[in-house]
Amino acid sequence: MNDESNILDYISQEDLTGIRNFMEGKKTPFLIISLKQIEKNYDELVKNVPYAKVYYAVKANSENEVIKLLYKKGSNFDVATVFEMQQLFDLGVSPDRMSYGNTIKKEADIEFAYKNGIRLFASDSISDVYKLARKAPGAKVFFRILTEGGNADWPLSRKFGANPDMIYHLIVEAKRLGLEPYGLSFHVGSQQREIGQWDSAISQCKYLFDALKDEGIELKMINLGGGFPTNYVKPVQPLEVYAKEITRFLAEDFGDNFPEIIVEPGRSIAGDSGVMISEVVMVSKKSVLNQYGWVYIDVGKFGGLIETIDESIKYPIYIDGINSNKGGEEVILAGPTCDSMDILYEDYKYRLPESTKEGDKVFILSTGAYTTTYSSIYFNGFPPLKTYVVKDWENGEEVESGVGAKEKLGKEIRRSNSLRSACFRGAQTRFAPDREPRHSLHPTGVEPVTFGSEDQRSIQLS
Ligand SMILES: Cc1ncc(COP(=O)(O)O)c(C=O)c1O
Repeated sequence: MNDESNILDYISQEDLTGIRNFMEGKKTPFLIISLKQIEKNYDELVKNVPYAKVYYAVKANSENEVIKLLYKKGSNFDVATVFEMQQLFDLGVSPDRMSYGNTIKKEADIEFAYKNGIRLFASDSISDVYKLARKAPGAKVFFRILTEGGNADWPLSRKFGANPDMIYHLIVEAKRLGLEPYGLSFHVGSQQREIGQWDSAISQCKYLFDALKDEGIELKMINLGGGFPTNYVKPVQPLEVYAKEITRFLAEDFGDNFPEIIVEPGRSIAGDSGVMISEVVMVSKKSVLNQYGWVYIDVGKFGGLIETIDESIKYPIYIDGINSNKGGEEVILAGPTCDSMDILYEDYKYRLPESTKEGDKVFILSTGAYTTTYSSIYFNGFPPLKTYVVKDWENGEEVESGVGAKEKLGKEIRRSNSLRSACFRGAQTRFAPDREPRHSLHPTGVEPVTFGSEDQRSIQLS
């Protein structure tokens, strides 16, 4: 880690003092989420892309108080599962403020979403288009373009999306089946450090907008995804620079006449709202003359730091009371579980003060995103990451706490299946439910894709 870095590059002295007061007497590890920081990040995003509708990606941090705050501020929500939907419904979020952004969906889950009023869906496959046509008739659908995620610290890779030739066919088919092809989406990879990645994705959108216009289909929306960065060890441009560049790319392709623009930020909203407090469990060396010491702390890959896989995300890490690691020793950092993959950083050498010893408290910064939601359930018996949500770090006034802070709201918020089963009970499918389209994709030399048999093409929608 950069010798020169200082914890005060990431957090103010007042906030640091507040956190130190807050942590007194509390057992580590735990996470403290600051709503003030979430609000600041949201406001900054809206200021920089005022033309965009924000759909916060709930998967980044789904604490109730975070959702409630963002809802009050006018955010919409990108939900990945019926469980996220149910949580938001329980909190009073209306369905017109949600989009079902996961392209991998069970038909029953599409039905649940639709019956509960969600009308905006993502898709990237013919199978999914058929499911949507059956269970969400007339819904607005946006189609996800595949991107490679190059230069992202946490690339979402080739798992999602499809190439433009496939997207084109999906859209034509969706229209024929009575859906409303509404727009396009992409995700350039999370913590994307190369702004130009948006440029190529936006130009693919432009190409598809034009090609589909010739087919009589007018797309209306582009979903620019997430990918906006937060503050880790590797430096990134400020959000303002991202926004300016992306706005320029849009203007180059669409002139003054922007389509409706959606953004789906997760990490950039929640990332730097979290400070994790851990403790050094053990310090050791593997041989007497070994150059590197091992520092084992009480949180690791299974306690919420899974994004250290391949050392992808490098969190700023400091020992309590020592603001800078300048002059410290290079160490290997590992978590507390009995799994040997629970090593946080070995290739990339963090520096920690020479004086580092067992019992020292450790601050792990920018841990607000993809930590609570990734934390394992009782691996080795370790409980899920304890989380406190506070109004702000300085005063430390708690508004929610628990194992996954949602715990506090108890029954009301438990991911109940009651609504779900009520919805499914007696649910009549309007299309022969026993007939699954055989979504074989047989590329041939001439026809790039086959969309099943004639039978499937003539699915009746009324
Ligand atoms: C569909 C979708 N939208 C938005 C996001 C949020 O991305 P980020 O955290 O990079 O802002 C994700 C993250 O995985 C995603 O899968």
